[in-house]
Amino acid sequence: MINHEVSFPARFFVVVVFVAFLGLVSVAPIEGRVKKYQFNIQMKNVSRLCHTKSIVTVNGKFPGPTLRVREGQRVIINVTNYANYNMSIHWHGIKQFRNGWADGPAYITQCPIQTGNSYVYDFNVTGQRGTLWWHAHILWLRATVYGAIVILPKKGTPFPFPRPDKDQVVMLGEWWNKDVEEIENQGNKIGLAPNTSDAHTINGKPGPLFPCFHKHTFAMEVEQGKTYLLRIINAALNSELFFGVAGHNMTVVEIDAVYTKPFTTSTILISSGQTTTVLVKANQAPGKYFMAASPLIDIPFVIDNKTTTAIFQYKGVSVYDNNVIPSLPNLPSLNDSSFSLTYNRKLKSLNSKHFPANVPLKVDRRLFYTIGFGLNPCRTCTNGTRLVASLNNITFEMPQVGLLQAHYFNQTGVFTTDFPDRPPQAFNYTGVPLTGNLRTVEATRLTKIRFNSTVELVLQDTNMIIAETHPFHLHGYNFFVMGSGIGNFDPRKDPRRYNVVDPPERNTVGVPNGGWTVIRFRADNPGVWFMHCHLELHTGWGLKTAFLVEDGGPNWSVLPPPKDLPSC
Ligand code: C2O
Repeated sequence: MINHEVSFPARFFVVVVFVAFLGLVSVAPIEGRVKKYQFNIQMKNVSRLCHTKSIVTVNGKFPGPTLRVREGQRVIINVTNYANYNMSIHWHGIKQFRNGWADGPAYITQCPIQTGNSYVYDFNVTGQRGTLWWHAHILWLRATVYGAIVILPKKGTPFPFPRPDKDQVVMLGEWWNKDVEEIENQGNKIGLAPNTSDAHTINGKPGPLFPCFHKHTFAMEVEQGKTYLLRIINAALNSELFFGVAGHNMTVVEIDAVYTKPFTTSTILISSGQTTTVLVKANQAPGKYFMAASPLIDIPFVIDNKTTTAIFQYKGVSVYDNNVIPSLPNLPSLNDSSFSLTYNRKLKSLNSKHFPANVPLKVDRRLFYTIGFGLNPCRTCTNGTRLVASLNNITFEMPQVGLLQAHYFNQTGVFTTDFPDRPPQAFNYTGVPLTGNLRTVEATRLTKIRFNSTVELVLQDTNMIIAETHPFHLHGYNFFVMGSGIGNFDPRKDPRRYNVVDPPERNTVGVPNGGWTVIRFRADNPGVWFMHCHLELHTGWGLKTAFLVEDGGPNWSVLPPPKDLPSC
């Protein structure tokens, strides 16, 4: 699986450790050798659904290479851009302690890597183990530029669940027959949502329910009686997905690289950006079974029923044996949003002695952000208006230079730190749809957070134009999901129902349609950290902001930028 992976010779490693020790103690690897990768961003002709197009890839692979690292390791990835697009890569879920320079979101923590240039992402994987992923973090290029990150536990530390016989990455994605940048531009021009994708995919392949599937079906061979660890990743641009394996139950053991209390289910729900690791025992009659993913769509006017399938195939049964027609797993229907509430309630941190849930019980800073849509004037749009999205009525405007750089070098005029802690006006957030002249303020406003303070953020969906689910992702941190519900958040009643013992800890959480979600985290990682809806469509509409977490003492401040940090 892993190409272009080079292990440093031991002697060089010693030098690296020594040099790192002299300068930046916290960058020295804690365990094992350094893992080094070369990522070449290059175009590649790929065909799916009987269409061939040129896509942006890493090393010509789609999906891209899997990083297989161990907790405590230092990882160095040299990214060289041979494509005609500016590029940046985000290591989704890696905390990047003091080291936002390696985080990757374009214009937030770095300027993009221009064609012909390289940038080295150099980071430690500390205090995390499980499944994460990486993806392009500029324009819509993550549609094809993504791959898995597998973090094995430290040597000698077993999994807190039965040891699987084998593990398998299962990446769920989305495929457009047209060039994704054309699709993105089409949307920008009309000021509305562009065409939805033509298929969903499993490991880049749509599977037998789509035309020209023969070469484009992912199959996984299993042996009767063995147990498999499926590392499921939702890399889709714009969908929340149900996933299941026909005839087989799954035991959820980890989400977003945090162990969970195991529970068994026939279906998982996974939002864009999230990962879910499950154990599956091959305990059925030998045969072929479909793995399938289908979208959860809870808004009335979007039609997207593009179930992707792959084959879970017992050894000895041929993949294309047409006499054996696999059955589909029973996935919830397209608009079954009640499944989401029931399912998410089952997710709990393992909270064991070795893997405690350090839930902040005292809150220093309370934030309340409303999620809304609006209609703003647009000179370049066909209709003269464009649909925008907002947090507390602010549509985030992308800066021209990296925010982290502007912060580190005290460059003024790039952003302000007056993002409001609450919405400009309280209203019945989830009452009758508001559709009047709903303009938003377009600005690059951040929230400044005191180092090491504890933050509680209520994300409240609203019925401005339309209510929708939103998977919110915070860079640089994991947070605890204290609770969620439908309707308006009630600050008197709802906190009584928070899970303060073993809430799920993750980096991406769904805010339910017409409801709210409350998260908490301790701001112990200084830097500028992006927070956004992980549906690319909504991010593009401005559903994003960033936290500026101030420096702590000398060992708790943002590290100096690397020499090769790209300039804008
Ligand atoms: Cu996976 Cu800012 O994204």
